[in-house]
This record gives sequence, structure tokens and C-alpha cells, in this order.
Amino acid sequence: MKIAVLKETRSGESRVAASPESVKKFVGLGAEIAVQSGAGEGARFSDEAYREAGASISPSAADAAQGADLIVKVQRPTSEELRVFGRGAKLAAILSPYNDPDSLASYARLGVDAFALDLMPRITRAQSMDVLSSQSNLAGYKAVIDAAAYYGRALPMMMTAAGTIAAAKVFVMGAGVAGLQAIATARRLGAIVSATDVRFAAKEQVESLGATFVTVDEEAMKDAETEGGYAKEMSQDFQRRQAEFVAEHIKKQDIVITTALIPGRPAPKLISEEMAQGLKPGSVIVDLAAEQGGNVALTRPGEAIEIGGVTILGFFNVPGRLAADASSLLARNIYNFVSAFWDKEKSDFIVDWDDDIFKGVGLTRDGAVVHAAFAGAESAQAAVDSAPGETGEEEE
Ligand code: NAI
Repeated sequence: MKIAVLKETRSGESRVAASPESVKKFVGLGAEIAVQSGAGEGARFSDEAYREAGASISPSAADAAQGADLIVKVQRPTSEELRVFGRGAKLAAILSPYNDPDSLASYARLGVDAFALDLMPRITRAQSMDVLSSQSNLAGYKAVIDAAAYYGRALPMMMTAAGTIAAAKVFVMGAGVAGLQAIATARRLGAIVSATDVRFAAKEQVESLGATFVTVDEEAMKDAETEGGYAKEMSQDFQRRQAEFVAEHIKKQDIVITTALIPGRPAPKLISEEMAQGLKPGSVIVDLAAEQGGNVALTRPGEAIEIGGVTILGFFNVPGRLAADASSLLARNIYNFVSAFWDKEKSDFIVDWDDDIFKGVGLTRDGAVVHAAFAGAESAQAAVDSAPGETGEEEE
């Protein structure tokens, strides 16, 4: 069983899908690992470190992928990258199929069995394989660090001989994995933190971190979570009342961090242009949803801008800004996924298409698109909503 680790070629992608640590573990399972030279550069993993861990270093992507049974990557392959994939190869990566549904046809045409790790069902057994959690956690942390860097004041209250500096007020919108880590990080830095979400379960989690939970309608929140643990799109009425509330609340904030996402849909717009302009000059908004269209009307995806004294950060690939940690965690997620289905006697990765994990992540099989959201279901959202819930396994 040969596993190839390719160098990412998409602009701004500094992460890599295997670390020297995960390579060592794969070798321990009996796998042969080929790492494309320079694949770990952005994450500061040298070819030498991979070699010491037991990998062979290939001069090009084509060499690494030659005869590979499984190719691991961070992001969806570009059409150029796909050229090196042999027929029958398996692919495991963050494939974001909703952002490019046509990519599934390419995998099928090439006879590549593609596994979208970002569609991992949220069941206890798969937690250690959950790439969205591992990456969102780092993004939430980095959002606060980025905000602090652009904010021209300190976050904690400081009592000095020259007088007292007030603590910064931080408001986090969306209290999922990224939001909760943002809350915890801002609290550690001494800020006064409030947060909101549409899911009822988020209230207790926010409060347990010492932040204040704010909402317009607790009753409506009780029905806002899918069986898979994700948010649903809220009613027009809820959205209107939420907007009115947010407009007032953010006037008093120094830093606003938005993380709200709805799987398979554009990110909900939570902060209008007018609301953003209502913030005090010097305030900072970090829009972690920038890649999915943004939660903030003024966000310029991929950029840091200042309008009317308010800084709006819409950086892409925020976990990639912590490339070493993001890669290490991603590499562990991928190792946990592969090793869970490893047949020791055959020394091979065996796909069990009846397993809920493969039903969740499997996009293509033997030249055909097989994922429910793309092959059969009435709509992508319907499949996202139902897939994890159908497992009958405990959700966290
Ligand atoms: P996400 O990245 O899809 O969304 C981020 C947050 O935005 C969510 O909390 C969502 O409720 C919120 N949101 C959506 N629309 C909103 C709106 N209009 N206003 C305010 N907030 C809005 O979600 P994420 O971070 O992936 O986590 C969702 C849930 O899944 C969390 O409860 C998390 O703890 C749980 N989870 C469970 C795992 C498991 O293995 N059992 C693993 C990871 C997360």
C-alpha cells in the first residue's frame, strides 16, 4: 500500500497533509510513504525530517503519485494536480464539494475514489478524524490574535500609575468550534466577552467559558439545530430581529468576530454595511466566514481593509496562518481515518462502503458519483441535514 503526500499548489496554502509524526505512524502500520519534495516547506517540515520518519522523497508530484493507492492532500486538487492521479487511486482531503460540485465528475471520470474529509459525520467514533473541528479551533484562536494585532489598544484591563485602561469588549457571533475557541482566547487575554448563536446548545457552552450569551429569541433557538449538530437557516422574522439586536449590541463593542456558517449554503449575512459603520473608530471586525461569502457585508474576501475607522479582516485560510499546528492536527486526523480502516494482515486501507463514515465522506466510487447529496438526494442541504442523523450513533 503506497501513500503519496503532495505539495499544495493553490495560492496561499501553506499546510501539508502529513507530518513527520504521521509518516512514522503510517510506516509503523506497514505503509510505504512517498512525500513530494518541499511538501512540508510552508509548515516547516523538511524533506530530511520526512526521510528520517521513514518516507521516500519524490522529486515531483508525478513521481510521488506514481503507483500510489492513496493520495493525501489538504485542499481539493486543481485540474493540473489531478493529472498525476492514476486510475483507481483513492484521494483523501478537504474537498469542499459544495464549493465546486463539478469536481465530483472529474474524480469519477478519472476513476478516483474521493473522500471529502470535511463531510465527516459528527459521531463520537469520528471525532478524532474531524478536520473541520481541528482547523476551526485554530482559526478561532488566530482570529483573536489577528484582531488584537490590528486593534490599537490593549485587551485586558490594566491599572497603572498613569491611570486605568479599560478592558476591550469582544463579541463573537457563532459559537461553534471556532467561536468557542475565540471566546476562550479573548477571555484569556482579559477581554469582556459576549457571544450569540442560533443553536440552543451553544448558550450553556458560551456561559461555561465565562462569557455572556445574548439572543433575541431563546424559543426559536430550540429548533435551530440539525440532527448532525449544525445550524439551520433561520426564519426571515428571526433574521430581522437578530439584525436589529446586533445593530445595537455591536455599537458598544471593540472587536467583533463572526464565525457563522450553514453547511452547503452561503454564510448568513449578519452585519450590514450600516451596522459595521456603527462601530466606534478603531474597532476591528474579523470575518472568519470570508471564504463562504462572509458574515459581514463590507468584507473584502482575502483582504484587510479599513472603512470609516473600522478595520475588517477577511483573511482566507486562517488555519493556514498557523501552518505547523494546522498541518500536525490535519495529519493526525488523516492518520486516524486511515488507520481506523487498516487491515493489518493485508497491510491495506480497506474501504467499507456500508460504514457511516464512508457514507459521509465518500463522493465517488469506481467511476461513479455516490454521495447522497450529489447523486440522489433532492437537495444538497437535505442530505447534509439527514446524513449524520441517520447513523443512529451518539452525537457529541
Ligand atoms: P459551523 O462552522 O458550521 O458554524 C459555526 C457556528 O455558526 C455554529 O455554531 C452555528 O450554529 C452558528 N450559526 C449559524 N448561523 C448563525 C446565525 N445566523 N447567527 C449566529 N450563529 C449562527 O459549526 P461548527 O463549529 O462546525 O460546530 C457546530 C456544532 O457541532 C457545535 O455544537 C460543535 O460543538 C459540534 N461538533 C460536534 C462534533 C462531534 O464530533 N460530535 C465535532 C465538532 C463539532
